[in-house]
Amino acid sequence: MKLHSNIILITGGASGIGLELAGRLLEMGNTVIISGRDQAKLERAKIQYPELHTFACDVTDPEAIAELHSRVCAQFPGLNMLVNNAGLMRKINLQTKEIDLIDINREIETNLSGPIRMVNQFLPQLINQPSAAIMNVSSALAFVPFAISPVYGATKAGVHSYTRSLRAQLKNTTVRVFELAPPLTKTTLVDAFEVNDMKGSVPMEVAKLVDDVIKAMERDQLEIRPGQSNLLKIMSRLAPNFIFKQMSKSVDAMLADSGK
Ligand SMILES: NC(=O)c1ccc[n+]([C@@H]2O[C@H](COP(=O)([O-])OP(=O)(O)OC[C@H]3O[C@@H](n4cnc5c(N)ncnc54)[C@H](OP(=O)(O)O)[C@@H]3O)[C@@H](O)[C@H]2O)c1
Repeated sequence: MKLHSNIILITGGASGIGLELAGRLLEMGNTVIISGRDQAKLERAKIQYPELHTFACDVTDPEAIAELHSRVCAQFPGLNMLVNNAGLMRKINLQTKEIDLIDINREIETNLSGPIRMVNQFLPQLINQPSAAIMNVSSALAFVPFAISPVYGATKAGVHSYTRSLRAQLKNTTVRVFELAPPLTKTTLVDAFEVNDMKGSVPMEVAKLVDDVIKAMERDQLEIRPGQSNLLKIMSRLAPNFIFKQMSKSVDAMLADSGK
């Protein structure tokens, strides 16, 4: 896919992978729109990249998505790319009683329902473009569950599955469907985790991750698995029980911390 002269909307684009990607796509001659919940973060991103267009939108709120759609499409009728990048990852001890029935689903609302609703809302716009793309950001943890983040892993496996179905259903359209499954990457997403939680994983620099993403998109590689993400997918096929056991070791420390 050509990566210039596109009009691209990136959710969760005010930090981390989304912001790095936004900056790179701007440099390559695209119009880039970012969205997120935190207005101050959007403003900081705009100071860093003055050509960015910013819109506040919470992807867990269907009305906010509908409003984002009408404002973006009115201002940018040629919008032809959607990157569903907004995400949330928490460490959750399922034996604690502190998380209520609404809060336990936050990752589902953000990471899974968010992209599904965004696609539903923006697809009629994208499908009318001569060349278009959707990129859903899943995770290496789509391939192997990470037991200390049980809801997060479930959402990313869900994004992976949904994206494959979406790709199959759009095969007769101009919309290419990409999935980016990042490995552990140095962003604030994983700040709440300790080094031991991620034992064995070397975090990827976000700039390197985005280098890989751009190259993969340019050669139309639809499932993008940078760095250790590819290894996790291979291991999930060759030795699924072994790799799951390795990835579940941090549960012991979590249980010890809570006195279980
Ligand atoms: N970093 C990693 O190791 C890693 C690995 C695999 C996959 N990923 C995935 O990569 C994506 C980007 O994460 P990141 O690492 O770049 O972390 P990040 O810097 O924390 O970015 C996440 C972004 O999502 C936005 N967001 C969160 N909830 C939102 C909501 N309800 N509505 C709209 N925006 C929301 C946040 O902005 P606001 O707070 O302003 O809303 C933030 O800008 C996520 O989908 C994540 O799961 C990351």
